[in-house]
Amino acid sequence: MTERSVKFKCSNVWKLFGAGADTFLGRYPSPTEQDIQREGLIAGVQNASFEIAEGEIFVVMGLSGSGKSTLLRCMSRLIMPTSGAINIDGVDLLDISERQLIELRRHKMGMVFQHFALLPHLTVLGNVAFPLEIQNTGTDERTRRTLEMIELVGLKGRENYYPHELSGGQQQRVGIARSLAVNPEVWFLDEPFSALDPLIRREMQNELLRLQSLLRKTIVFITHDFDEAIRLADRIAIMKAGKVIQIGTPEELVLAPADEYVREFTSEIPRAKVLSVASVMSEPSGDELHGADIFPHSRIESVAPEVISRDRAMAVLDDSGKVVGRLEPGHIIPVLAGIDNQIV
Ligand SMILES: Nc1ncnc2c1ncn2[C@@H]1O[C@H](COP(=O)(O)OP(=O)(O)OP(=O)(O)O)[C@@H](O)[C@H]1O
Ligand SMILES: [Mg+2]
Repeated sequence: MTERSVKFKCSNVWKLFGAGADTFLGRYPSPTEQDIQREGLIAGVQNASFEIAEGEIFVVMGLSGSGKSTLLRCMSRLIMPTSGAINIDGVDLLDISERQLIELRRHKMGMVFQHFALLPHLTVLGNVAFPLEIQNTGTDERTRRTLEMIELVGLKGRENYYPHELSGGQQQRVGIARSLAVNPEVWFLDEPFSALDPLIRREMQNELLRLQSLLRKTIVFITHDFDEAIRLADRIAIMKAGKVIQIGTPEELVLAPADEYVREFTSEIPRAKVLSVASVMSEPSGDELHGADIFPHSRIESVAPEVISRDRAMAVLDDSGKVVGRLEPGHIIPVLAGIDNQIV
């Protein structure tokens, strides 16, 4: 995280549930799992520290019950962490008044919940417009923005439907439109697309990426699906039993999983989708063929057809056109076959 500024920062965040949770860390400053169990507590989040850059898509993954939603709720201050600090633009969320917090939520944060909560007595239009009403946005602007968001999520024509008249996926899209209506700076999404069928889900992922290329929001996105994670993420945090086990780019997680749990998570994914040319190329020899643009950061999947069809060593170029590497079919075929990590 060098060139972009830090938008969001968690420092040693804990969230413990159960009687005595508030005093527990005073008694056990560095508790073990046994200490937590002995006291009959449940650790939602354990000692999480990380920074998120402005404009980054930060994905959180982990098995059910690993603490993803609890972490997200702490980050948006929907629940109070047991201990730790949470900063947004340098403002400590744990040290501001309820009023300041409400303002911050209204203007800076957008949330899509795992179990979305639409207002049952309001139509699609009413639901999406709701946060704008709370913000006191003028009627014309409110209507314009509401219709724009409804169209964006593909619900044009259903403006006057009530939630019970919509499918689960459609309801989720109303939730997405509603959370985007206020144009939040930090957007928290807790498994927003899980209820959608695969085609629509992919469309919504594309939509998110399109929006992100325009709006450059800071996004915290929870998902169970590694395929979804690698499509969206700049970096992925993997959680296990309340702990953030590893944070890295999809490629870093695949190349150097911190433990067996992370390896399991990443094992399903075709490696060619994640690994870059830089991870397999060799030093240039001078006889490489200059073909299409092949860069160190190109994904192997995207350059494979060219390299294999030419069946030659190809030049890898940096942004100024200088040859910085050599890429042969022999470098990428093991990756495509998923056996590159078995070759020593
Ligand atoms: N209000 C609560 N009171 C007690 N325990 C809780 C509470 N909220 C969460 N937990 C516990 O904290 C742990 C983490 O829950 P959390 O909902 O964050 O998991 P998750 O990773 O989001 O799971 P899923 O993928 O199923 O949504 C679980 O063991 C859960 O039972
Ligand atoms: Mg959850």
